[in-house]
Amino acid sequence: MDQDRILYAKPSITDLEVQYAADAAANGWGEQCYDYIFKFRDQLKSYLDVPYVIPTSSCTGALHMALAALGVGPGDEVIYPDITWIASASPTKYLGAEPVFVDVLENSWCIDPAAIKAAITEKTKAIVVVHVYGNLCEMDEIMSIAKSHGLPVIEDAAEGLGSVYKGKKAGSIGDMAAFSFHGTKTITTGEGGALIVQSPELYEKLQTLESHGRHPKSDKQFWCDEVGYKYKMSNIQAAIGAAQMERIDELVERKREIFAEYHEILANLPGLQLNPEPENTVNSYWMTTVVFDEALPFVREDLQEEMAKANIDARVFFYPVSLMPPFQSKPENTKSYSLYNRGINLPCYHDITSAQINRVCDVLKRYLDKIR
Ligand SMILES: Cc1ncc(COP(=O)(O)O)c(C=O)c1O
Repeated sequence: MDQDRILYAKPSITDLEVQYAADAAANGWGEQCYDYIFKFRDQLKSYLDVPYVIPTSSCTGALHMALAALGVGPGDEVIYPDITWIASASPTKYLGAEPVFVDVLENSWCIDPAAIKAAITEKTKAIVVVHVYGNLCEMDEIMSIAKSHGLPVIEDAAEGLGSVYKGKKAGSIGDMAAFSFHGTKTITTGEGGALIVQSPELYEKLQTLESHGRHPKSDKQFWCDEVGYKYKMSNIQAAIGAAQMERIDELVERKREIFAEYHEILANLPGLQLNPEPENTVNSYWMTTVVFDEALPFVREDLQEEMAKANIDARVFFYPVSLMPPFQSKPENTKSYSLYNRGINLPCYHDITSAQINRVCDVLKRYLDKIR
């Protein structure tokens, strides 16, 4: 193959990240062992405008603790969109409860508020919504349904950092929220995450839970009041995160520029739908995604193969989680079961060039011509 490989995701690491990580490795011990963790936590707090942030080792861990803090356990149900990564739902299984997968909306690919309403039972303990690929959930409607049933909402904002819904950042609207800073995400700490908490009561509970059950104000060293968790972020990871947060506006803006370039080339082609940006919202476009019209004989593996021949990594749309072996299939989630087969994520990492975007679009256009 004579052309350079185009990856679908890759972080943007500058001298600043390297400098902070080196400083943490050289000096971030003893008295300084939490300095970057606190810095990163405070940057997230102020960027998101939220009262409490707990940096974690992953988004999965943050979601696990969020559900544990709500007391989710055997016999309980937690409502989820069927289109998401399994990590959203696994923590409900860890706790012995059952995820209930409901359908998504055709235009945003995010959870359908009417489907949430229809799925609420006496067993429902929480609602987890997912801002998939940077697209925003219908938060006003979701919060109002949740409030009328006295249910907490957790935003899985792993893919939504930088998206804004009616003036509020994704992750600042629900009772709790979780972010991922995995290497493919808009900002990275290698692996990592954060748990966002709105109420002082839940935060108090979580401070104990996240520290192996030790109350932060306990005067007895190594005394645990309950069995807790260990999902902490390290100071070195947080140092990389602190540098990334200093660049957050640039990183989100670049995602938007990349989407705009794709949009310019692809939006007018018939039969394609790209990530939406409804009025009063800002989409941070974590993943530029294309969904092909139902009427087209689109086979995503064929397009993936064409991309691979051109040395391009493209990623398939998430399978409905309920379609996978650990869960019970729910083909009645018709939109989810149709969308996944018609969608593909395009390479959209920070340093992708316009020439590379054109290369990706050329393959896509050729494929589209073939199937039309
Ligand atoms: C929607 C969603 N939820 C949760 C996760 C889990 O994040 P992490 O890998 O940081 O645990 C991811 C990451 O891929 C994700 O995309």
